[in-house]
Amino acid sequence: AASQMWGGRFASGPAAIMEKINASIGFDKRLADQDIAGSKAHAAMLARQGIISQADADAIRDGLDRVKEEIDSGRFEFKVELEDIHMNVEARLAELIGEPAKRLHTARSRNDQVATDFKLWVRDAIDRADAGLKALQTALIDLAEQHADTLMPGFTHLQAAQPVTFGHHLLAYVEMFGRDRGRLTDARARLNECPLGSAALAGTPYPIDRFMTAEALGFNRPTANSLDAVSDRDFALEYLAAASICAVHLSRFAEEIVLWCSVQFRFIRLSDAFTTGSSIMPQKKNPDAAELVRAKAGRVIGMLNSLLIAMKGLPLAYSKDMQEDKEPVFEADDTLGLCIAAMEGMVRDMEPNREAMREATARGFLNATDLADWLVRELGIPFREAHHITGRAVKMAEEKRVGLTDLSLAELQSIEPRISEAVYPALSIESSLNSRSSYGGPAPDRVREAVKVARERFL
Ligand code: ARG
Repeated sequence: AASQMWGGRFASGPAAIMEKINASIGFDKRLADQDIAGSKAHAAMLARQGIISQADADAIRDGLDRVKEEIDSGRFEFKVELEDIHMNVEARLAELIGEPAKRLHTARSRNDQVATDFKLWVRDAIDRADAGLKALQTALIDLAEQHADTLMPGFTHLQAAQPVTFGHHLLAYVEMFGRDRGRLTDARARLNECPLGSAALAGTPYPIDRFMTAEALGFNRPTANSLDAVSDRDFALEYLAAASICAVHLSRFAEEIVLWCSVQFRFIRLSDAFTTGSSIMPQKKNPDAAELVRAKAGRVIGMLNSLLIAMKGLPLAYSKDMQEDKEPVFEADDTLGLCIAAMEGMVRDMEPNREAMREATARGFLNATDLADWLVRELGIPFREAHHITGRAVKMAEEKRVGLTDLSLAELQSIEPRISEAVYPALSIESSLNSRSSYGGPAPDRVREAVKVARERFL
């Protein structure tokens, strides 16, 4: 039975293990909709070009609609011996409509067929990821707006650095996910050329109209080179690269969520809906969803590596190696979609703890840079020198286990005699924060502006 499509040249069927390693139907059944759409476009074109009759094209179209119904309703019987989705659909079509089905494969090969199907699928995956990221950005922007003036320590090296706002921190991720969407959009634009009509590798002698099929399937134009068209999997790699970078962003955010809901930070609380308990420690509420998002980035990156390695060194044109392109993309799409949705859920669920964040800004000398800046501004001391003076003040405060503003004027003047009482207001965390109003900065007014701009840019 397996020799049905090319049986002329074969006397016997494949070994069981050959069939097993060869078949892709187990996973490429996910291309069913795209395969049927591609075949309908191809058949309509063949008829308009007078290559098959209109009656045959109509029968093919109606038959493919029936096949799709069978697949959608779960009644379709996928057969491993028919290897892949293309032959499964075509064989069933033949059962349903007979003779005209056998004309469908005129001027076509599975090589241009699978490239077309897969591009259509990746295009949908890109659109799904874009929509998911947009929803995540919406949740982040809404929360950022509520926390435009929620004080929070900013970190470098995970050491307290300078004050920021929680809203500003959230908007940093809005930027990252915005670039992720941009990368997906770029990949989509480059992908959007139709391979159909490239046939096996060298085009076809039939008078086909590749522009017609390209347009029918929503492509901008047909691909320019038949060898390239059936060999190119850049589009899948680009998708996987964009998905990997996005997964890395999600993973970094997930790590922050894990930190923030620890008792050491207490910056946020996740509800029962996004935490799990421990089977032994009754007090536990673990951020499992965030931990899994953090880990699943590894899978997506693995999928990119897997396909890069499968593609490297392949000669033109199609090689069966390329059948290994689909599972990585399917897996990445499933994983990324899950992670984006889980992250959106956590953002909507999280309850920021303003008090804990404010308290945290009192530790770690977040205002040290402000003291140095004050010395520069008010006393005309060169910044490098001001940095040194401030360092001595920090050392003194640290030894006394107090903050900078807890040092008396006499103590500060023992380090730099020209320091006056006026330094204290400049060292308050609020004034430190409010002064950070440079474009793109964390000052509350800036964040409120940035929220508005982000809504216009992204939503
Ligand atoms: N199942 C195959 C794939 O996924 C379809 C193309 C097969 N082409 C071929 N020349 N054997 O790549």
